[in-house]
Amino acid sequence: MSEHNKDDDASLSRRTFLAACAALPVASSVVVDPAVAAETAAAPGLTAAGASPSDLLTFDVLIIGAGGAGLRAAVYAMRNTNLSVAVVSKTMPTRSATCMAEGGFNGVLQFPGQKDSLDSHSFDTVKGSDYLGDQDVIDFFVEKASEAVRETDFWGTPYNRTEDGRVAQRFMAGHQYPRTNYSADKTGHALLHANFDYAVGAGVKFLIDHQLLDVAIEDGVCTGAVLRNVHTGVIAPVRARAVILATGGYTRIFWLRTSTPYISTGDGTAAALRAGLPFKDPEMIQFHPTGVAHGGVLITEAARGDGGYLLNNKGERFMQRYAPAKMELAPRDITARAIETEIREGRGFGEGMEAYVLIDLRHLGREKIMARLPQIRHVGLLFENTDLVDKPLAIRSTAHYSMGGIDVVDYHSLATAIPGLFAAGECACESIHGANRLGGNSLAAAMVTGKEAGIGAAAYAAKASMPGEATLLRLANQWRDHFREATSRTTGVNFVELRDRMAKVLWDGMGIFRTEKGLAAASESLRDLQKEYASAKVGNPGLVGNTAYTHYIEVGNMLSLARCAALAALNRRESRGAHTREDYPKRDDVNFLRHSLVSLKGDDYVLDYKPVVIKRFKPEERTY
Ligand code: FUM
Repeated sequence: MSEHNKDDDASLSRRTFLAACAALPVASSVVVDPAVAAETAAAPGLTAAGASPSDLLTFDVLIIGAGGAGLRAAVYAMRNTNLSVAVVSKTMPTRSATCMAEGGFNGVLQFPGQKDSLDSHSFDTVKGSDYLGDQDVIDFFVEKASEAVRETDFWGTPYNRTEDGRVAQRFMAGHQYPRTNYSADKTGHALLHANFDYAVGAGVKFLIDHQLLDVAIEDGVCTGAVLRNVHTGVIAPVRARAVILATGGYTRIFWLRTSTPYISTGDGTAAALRAGLPFKDPEMIQFHPTGVAHGGVLITEAARGDGGYLLNNKGERFMQRYAPAKMELAPRDITARAIETEIREGRGFGEGMEAYVLIDLRHLGREKIMARLPQIRHVGLLFENTDLVDKPLAIRSTAHYSMGGIDVVDYHSLATAIPGLFAAGECACESIHGANRLGGNSLAAAMVTGKEAGIGAAAYAAKASMPGEATLLRLANQWRDHFREATSRTTGVNFVELRDRMAKVLWDGMGIFRTEKGLAAASESLRDLQKEYASAKVGNPGLVGNTAYTHYIEVGNMLSLARCAALAALNRRESRGAHTREDYPKRDDVNFLRHSLVSLKGDDYVLDYKPVVIKRFKPEERTY
């Protein structure tokens, strides 16, 4: 390639392209209170010299997070409106957790001859949630999910097809019918790109490589967000009439034992908590049964949906013991517990954190594996040096999904209790998934809640007046001070060590099996870790390229969310869905058919509850 062509190529890189889509000039949007302008001029980089509040970067709708929900929200916030819409992303927008979702996207299509129905999808979701899902929300979700499959097909998602050209559907666990629409085992990736193309085409602006620090609330109304450019270190207050949080889940609290990306640190949920919103059902954390043994990267449930076996060290299909009717297609909570029980009782391979069982796909044959499950074959080769075509693969359960999230008070618009602040996707808890999400309902929830949040936020923004800027500027200045203070510490423990201790505390005390003693100890340890965190050493005093500070903020967010989860888990003295209390092995509908709500009051975490919405499906024993 000639030098000339190389340059052309560089100017057309995806990152450069997206930077060109950004709302410019981002740097000049970085404003400080005029009263401190003189001081900030002496610290170039943290703020743009000479900027004034009138330069404040402003959007009608600001969306934090560029996964499936965020991009979909952006498309719908712009559709039929003349609003300005920007999407903020900590990484490249196409590198979110959505692009790692494999198995598919649930939506009933009711092709002629099919027995499936919206009612069946609702029932399976309610039962799967162990009756903690709100049934009005679930009915709404199921109907909209069906529409979303057709729409995203029209948008160009390359769904697999049946011989007569229909969208192909497969089984996922806990469903009565095959209703998971899929693109091989790369469905999230395909869906994300369809949404991304539409967002770019619609003229959405992107602020890539920006970390959310806080949302600003003034006189009880959301007025924007404070962001930090993770490359330049610039701290940017961005004013917005409406903000949608779509920052994904928080399962990185388990650090290396998760199937989600490094960015899944719950930044939006933690910001909402600080802004005064309750964190709903934080204890409901899903462990996906099949992560690769070393590292936890996802081996899709579709592998079992398409006929894969789970085997212990005796070569037994052990699911016979736990879910004789559904076998490997039992829901995730049950299958994850079964795997952990086999390991605990000596029927696994290896020891301690290195222990595992096997998934065996050999009987499916090369052709089927290559056509329907090529990604997990690749993952097996990459992480375990195992070719699933001719060998079983070592797997173990891995933290996968946050059923809990920011409390949403209107599931039609995804509004929170703070006017102007909305939440969508995994960071939101509108209560579709309850205590256990069914496979394939996550991409569906991202598509449904993203769209409705986009429409809801746009409707709100179209009527909202220009928000005030005082709180936004004050918060930005507080963050600037925090950066200086935290990065200049020369003593204190290295915060990375705290992160690793947190992950161990959580796996041991708040993992798949939980007890009063373990949860109490975990809560205590998390409190101590938070104390140490406040004076921990960041290590890098530099402004530019300070990834240590980026991660320091993420670790603080994770510690806070983990404390909420431990508090709610300790006080939920029953077993329901993914929350398994060995000391309270039964579900207790008399005392706990209710949502946990954890709020931050000063430095205290306060637990409250609210009722579950039950409609036509009365709680009954959950067997498979
Ligand atoms: O197993 C999977 O493919 C994951 C899907 C999901 O979490 O919905």
